[in-house]
Amino acid sequence: MADQAFVTLATNDSYARGAMVLGKSLRNHNTSKKLVVLIGPQVSEPCKSLLKSIYDEVRVVDVLDSGDTAHLSMMKRPDLGVTFTKLHCWTLTQYSKCVFMDADTLVLSNIDELFDREELSAAPDPGWPDCFNSGVFVFCPSMETHGKLLQYCTEHGSFDGGDQGVLNGFFSDWATADISKHLPFIYNLSSIAIYTYLPAFKQYGGSAKVVHFLGKTKPWSYKYDPKTKRVTGSVQEADTHSTFLLDWWNLYSTAVVPMMHEEYGDQPFHSGCEEVESSSSHVQAHAQAQAQEEVAATEKLTSDERREKWEQGQADYMGVDSFDNIKKKLDTFLKK
Ligand code: UDP
Ligand code: GLC
Ligand code: MN
Repeated sequence: MADQAFVTLATNDSYARGAMVLGKSLRNHNTSKKLVVLIGPQVSEPCKSLLKSIYDEVRVVDVLDSGDTAHLSMMKRPDLGVTFTKLHCWTLTQYSKCVFMDADTLVLSNIDELFDREELSAAPDPGWPDCFNSGVFVFCPSMETHGKLLQYCTEHGSFDGGDQGVLNGFFSDWATADISKHLPFIYNLSSIAIYTYLPAFKQYGGSAKVVHFLGKTKPWSYKYDPKTKRVTGSVQEADTHSTFLLDWWNLYSTAVVPMMHEEYGDQPFHSGCEEVESSSSHVQAHAQAQAQEEVAATEKLTSDERREKWEQGQADYMGVDSFDNIKKKLDTFLKK
């Protein structure tokens, strides 16, 4: 249907790479819907033109930033203020219904059936299931709703500093009003659920339709060797999270990288798009140093006391026991 679309957002070249893979994954599963990407002015020309060859519409929008460092630091994600930009999706009024998807999601099968749902349908957040996760949601573009959302931001702000706090505040009866607006978790399977409820993941993970690489470490933060088809720095080969990670990288290296070469030949791309291929880039060296520092910090904090708390079920998932930290810790064991 021409008046229905999947929509994503990328304010910079890193998230643009996520959007490229997401767009490809939707196409590969033969969606009949339009594909729209909202980009910030910071996205480079090469990335923009690649996005144009995958998406039906590439729309440049102003970057909105909550600037709410206090709430964002509670999530340890100072970078998420710009997710307010997501709210622009309500201005896409040439479409009657849309499904928003974070640029760090990957589609594993056709999900066009989501358009049978109403606004605002979304899956529970794994951290607080009475809130919905705003990485995947069904909505109806409307300038009126857009205006009300912006007004809500001005009057109430966001309890997490990002769009998810605003949207849950605005659509506040989601948890209780209408069960048909609760999307099954398989439409937004966060990588975090793999370690918070492993048996459930083993039981139901095979039916996942959308995987969401929620958290600080994104697929594009890793390195990948196209020859061995392995992601370096991943937990272990058998690890299911790395299977999804490998799916992401396979798609990136087989479908996106060749497009880059087609458009730009062997010339180096002057944008974030090339970071992936220059393993010794400054950016990656910096990220590695940062990861090592975080591992050191985790080691200091993973004392007997911490372990005792963990064993009593008092894990600090947002802090020292976050998925990123656990994974980094495992990585250090595997490297030894
Ligand atoms: N986003 C973006 N630029 C940023 C941060 C976020 O474009 O600097 C967009 C992107 O679509 C991303 C979404 O906002 O997927 C939400 O952020 P993220 O996925 O990092 O949050 P998480 O799901 O990890 O909480
Ligand atoms: C969440 C969501 C993400 C959202 C962020 C900020 O964790 O996964 O989509 O942008 O919070 O509110
Ligand atoms: Mn996300």
